[in-house]
Amino acid sequence: MIQTEAIDIAGWLADEKFANAYPEGARPKRVVVSPADTGLEFIRPDWRYMFKLSSDRAAEQFWAEIIAYEIGELLGVSVPPAYAAFDSEREQCGALIEWFYKEGSTGFFSAGNFFNNLIQDFDRDKGRQHNLETAVRFNSTAVGGDHLYCIWEMLLFDTVIGNTDRHQDNWGHLLAVIKNPERVFKETRNRFRVEWGFAPWFDNGTSLGYQIPPNKFTQWRSDAYDRYIIRGQHHMRYSERNLTQIGHIASMRLAFNLAKNDAEMAVVVFRLRKKLEEFDLAGLTKVLDRCTSMNGMPDGGKFSAKRAEFVYRLTRRRIEIALDALYGKH
Ligand SMILES: Nc1ncnc2c1ncn2[C@@H]1O[C@H](COP(=O)(O)OP(=O)(O)OP(=O)(O)O)[C@@H](O)[C@H]1O
Ligand SMILES: [Mg+2]
Repeated sequence: MIQTEAIDIAGWLADEKFANAYPEGARPKRVVVSPADTGLEFIRPDWRYMFKLSSDRAAEQFWAEIIAYEIGELLGVSVPPAYAAFDSEREQCGALIEWFYKEGSTGFFSAGNFFNNLIQDFDRDKGRQHNLETAVRFNSTAVGGDHLYCIWEMLLFDTVIGNTDRHQDNWGHLLAVIKNPERVFKETRNRFRVEWGFAPWFDNGTSLGYQIPPNKFTQWRSDAYDRYIIRGQHHMRYSERNLTQIGHIASMRLAFNLAKNDAEMAVVVFRLRKKLEEFDLAGLTKVLDRCTSMNGMPDGGKFSAKRAEFVYRLTRRRIEIALDALYGKH
């Protein structure tokens, strides 16, 4: 079952725990709980969701969260599901984003906590020392296993959607407390162990050219697309010694360069290229068509065909340039 009709959340209850957690800001949002039965297979019953509106200056911004999720699906990258929704009582439209963990046995720990512990005078607010080198270092011990690939997968995803706001608190880890088998308990006397993994990549609305108004992007020729794509940057810096933000395309070129002398990075680059080479552009067209024709979306919350065309061209070109960079051509 895929979404074809916008969801009215007017009757959904506010989540008490978060009632005052997110006061009105640049992007107002609130936490709600789904009813036991919505008749929609893709909505988890009695589950927490974030209802996230657009910023004042960009009415269509919330669609970026929804399309970023769909691009995550097409790339095979884990992103919390996001759906088109509105509140008929408050007359608001927004993205309805599934909570990515259940409280109790699992917790979320943002990467900012690590940086704060590891870097002296870490700028917790702006994250000016948020950097790739430190991220790779602490994840090699915290997560281990596939950590290097996962970090690069995040950079790939942000490059494809052009996300400029993956700051230190917009990614992190899920901690699961798991009961040890009796045998392990007898040997170690530890009843439980904690397992660390990456949380899905959430907060993806600062992307997909959301801030460019239609009177601008409709004038863009291909060179304007290329200039915009090349200018895009991650929030992440190179290292503690080099606090320059890594460009989106520059990050893919960096992966290519690192792979020359590093077997593990060579495997990462191979996997990243494969993701882009297999990207289903026809699938993206279908997603965008579904967004522009979403039934029941009130006026003021609709996704325009013009913007759909813009997002398509932008994403297709980003993938082309990112792939060139992964082959050392950019
Ligand atoms: N789907 C989700 N599941 C669980 N927790 C979430 C989810 N979405 C957001 N959060 C939590 O809520 C916080 C705020 O949400 P989010 O990052 O999406 O918006 P924001 O803070 O307005 O963006 P910004 O990073 O620009 O300040 C997150 O840092 C995260 O801790
Ligand atoms: Mg955030």
